Amino acid sequence: MKLFDVYPINNINIVKGVGSLVYDNKGQEYLDLYGGHAVISIGHTHPHYVKRLEDQLHKIGFYSNSIEIPLQQQLAEKLGHVSGKEDYQLFLVSSGAEANENALKLASFYNGKKKVICFTGAFHGRTSLAVAVTDNPRIVAPINETDNVIRLPWKDEAALEQAFADNEISSVIIEGIQGVGGIQVAPENFLQKIRSLCDKHNAVFIADAVQCGYGRTGKFYSHDFAGVNADIYTMAKGIGNGFPIGAISISPKIQPAYGMLGTTFGGNHLACAAALAVLEVMEQDNLMQNAAEVGGYLIDELKKFKQVTEVRGRGLMIGIDLPTEYASAKKDLLFKHHIFTGEAKPNVIRLLPALNLTKAHADQFLEAFTTVLNK
Ligand SMILES: Cc1ncc(COP(=O)(O)O)c(C=O)c1O
Repeated sequence: MKLFDVYPINNINIVKGVGSLVYDNKGQEYLDLYGGHAVISIGHTHPHYVKRLEDQLHKIGFYSNSIEIPLQQQLAEKLGHVSGKEDYQLFLVSSGAEANENALKLASFYNGKKKVICFTGAFHGRTSLAVAVTDNPRIVAPINETDNVIRLPWKDEAALEQAFADNEISSVIIEGIQGVGGIQVAPENFLQKIRSLCDKHNAVFIADAVQCGYGRTGKFYSHDFAGVNADIYTMAKGIGNGFPIGAISISPKIQPAYGMLGTTFGGNHLACAAALAVLEVMEQDNLMQNAAEVGGYLIDELKKFKQVTEVRGRGLMIGIDLPTEYASAKKDLLFKHHIFTGEAKPNVIRLLPALNLTKAHADQFLEAFTTVLNK
């Protein structure tokens, strides 16, 4: 059997990781400013994380949601506390797409309506509704197409008001900072507008925090910068530091009912142990503060490069726009300087490192970036 060949990959075999460093099978060290696509939140093989998972594995790894799993309640309490939404309710899944799928479905159960507003440039995942609200026709199969999706221009308040006036809107889904879309920060007044229109029309505000959430921007949810609450926050990536776990945090106004949502794997013992370990390290080591500080430093320094067209982002979610003549910058960083970064089209380098990235590692990147741009 061979692999179904859908990923354009780099010819590198990473076999080990420690903090923000990873190593290939030939012993070459790399600085990881990509975190496997914003997943590595507390660094590779963090000792507390490894120990908590190991201990849990020796006790029990999995049992289904047909029994009590006290670790779920512990996680709910800790997440409520760290995210500042203590009165919200937690539903656990296994990926970002599954989180968004459940959020959209829950919104529709809640208000009985069908239409969802999403935006140009958005990425919400690859399952049926999640991909339908994603702005990329190449990954939407005919079976995923639906009349229930209204895609509006990013940041267009007038279009938003009009869509609410013309349709029965069930929900609005929006990333606080578009990730795949090239690190585009949602303006605070736009998020506030969504909040007030959702209130007025009994629609559900869904904050996709899968990439921009979990402390990456220096606040727990990047949507928090707008000073308004969403009704549902969706999470994945950083929540498990590599263990596949996703979650939705649900406003108290939305009531649960038996059988309304469900999953086999979501919230299993091992997943909860991983997520608890991540939150414990985040709290203990003040990682949100570190993300704000080291991220702020990187953003300020990057703005000084005369070759850079624009620097966008918050904390450790950073997009660097480069003119087309620097199209090879990401590959040069990887193969000449052994630094992993991400990319978004067109010509945007994305930095999504672990939240405990040190200033020394930030400087290592800045030095390499200087060389790459002055080649
Ligand atoms: C904002 C956002 N939402 C949802 C997803 C989908 O997450 P997953 O790949 O875990 O299904 C992603 C993945 O990149 C994302 O960036």
